[in-house]
Amino acid sequence: MARSASVHVCSACGATTPRWHGRCPSCSEWNTLVEERVPAGPSAGVAGARRGAAARPVALREVSARASPRLTTGIGELDRVLGGGLVPGSVVLLGGSPGIGKSTLTNMALGHLAAAGRGTLYVSGEESAAQIRLRAERLGPAALDVPVLAETDLETVVATIAAERPDACVVDSVQTLHAGTLESAPGTVGQVREVATRITEVAKRNGTAVVLVGHVTKEGALAGPRVLEHLVDCVLQFEGERERTYRTLRALKNRFGSTNDVGVFEMRGGGLVEVLDASARFVGEATRAPGSVVLAAMEGSRPLLVEVQALVSPSELVPPRRVCTGLDRNRLALVLAVLARHAGVGAGTSDVFVNVVGGVRIDEPGADLAVALAVASAARGVAPDPAPLACFGEIGLTGELRSVGHPDRRAEEAAKFGLEAIVSPASAPTLRAALRAALGRARAAAAA
Ligand code: TYD
Ligand code: MG
Repeated sequence: MARSASVHVCSACGATTPRWHGRCPSCSEWNTLVEERVPAGPSAGVAGARRGAAARPVALREVSARASPRLTTGIGELDRVLGGGLVPGSVVLLGGSPGIGKSTLTNMALGHLAAAGRGTLYVSGEESAAQIRLRAERLGPAALDVPVLAETDLETVVATIAAERPDACVVDSVQTLHAGTLESAPGTVGQVREVATRITEVAKRNGTAVVLVGHVTKEGALAGPRVLEHLVDCVLQFEGERERTYRTLRALKNRFGSTNDVGVFEMRGGGLVEVLDASARFVGEATRAPGSVVLAAMEGSRPLLVEVQALVSPSELVPPRRVCTGLDRNRLALVLAVLARHAGVGAGTSDVFVNVVGGVRIDEPGADLAVALAVASAARGVAPDPAPLACFGEIGLTGELRSVGHPDRRAEEAAKFGLEAIVSPASAPTLRAALRAALGRARAAAAA
């Protein structure tokens, strides 16, 4: 294939230069130049619009829109997050930090599809075929039926997809493929974008459902697949701590379904296992000690009970440490400020650690009250009563509790797992009242 020329386009001012510079010669911004392929010949552009000929718009009613049957991956949690399975011809970007289980999940999905008689292809630019086989052996016999291609050259991959025409294809990862038409190294913004564009083209043409695997750093940066989000139909994020057992899968964007659903998985010796009783597990494992409360969270449209733990301990550092895992740091700072100002619980010069147990990440304001109660309980050294205590609610800057979505479903989920007493905006109008309800009786009992 002829190598067409490439240019470097400044993402700040749009200027183009034939060579790469660290600093844009036009607007003087640093690190803004992204390599792009120059389309071959003047014929580039949307078909039918080459010489600006008018096209005929079609009334929506006349557009044929057959709902094509989905490919069920056999992994219930994955299918649910996708909105019912993979859509033929669609492109899904599966992001997550290294070691989280992206290759495992996609291997398993292809294995199930192959077992169901679908055409599959697993393209790996990261691992050798032998390495992939070793993993597949752990995942069971179905995974061994998946054809693999260990390849990093984009042209070869595109040609193989076009020749094999699989129903489902995984490209692991988008950062390792290399487009010969560009000079930049694999994984750079220009390369990643070119790889995704070319694979999307071939996927749409052949009706192949493609899953592009992409590594995202914790900050989501570094030429990461974030630049692809607008190119693909669906963006899934696989989250959790590598050392922990639980991982969550959520959709950040979905053209064919909602972005509300979340799947919970556990990494075991034989691959990823769906966790269907996540609430029961987390409640069962809750410690009932000072500093532990159960948050009745909503993960999209699904209620989930998770344990939130806090530790407040004297610090040697100025300023003291404020560390949280599974929660937003800024939310923790806000909760600590409101606790000190409106509820008489000052963390002062102590270190404060807050953790959502199990490696689950909670991204909703309803978690505020759980953080506040866990910190207050830890600071006072008294366990909530009854323990484990369920709670949810957003905390306002004036110390009030604000209602959050789906209070009934949260309370139902808590009741289902034996947590009848629940502290929420409905039962306590302010943070102070919530603290009294959660810790008041326990304190009185401790004092007696
Ligand atoms: P992997 O899917 O390779 O992660 P990623 O592709 O996101 O980088 O797997 C991550 C880890 O999971 C790996 O360190 C080994 C572990 N693992 C298991 O515990 N059980 C298994 O069955 C498999 C396949 C992997
Ligand atoms: Mg991998």
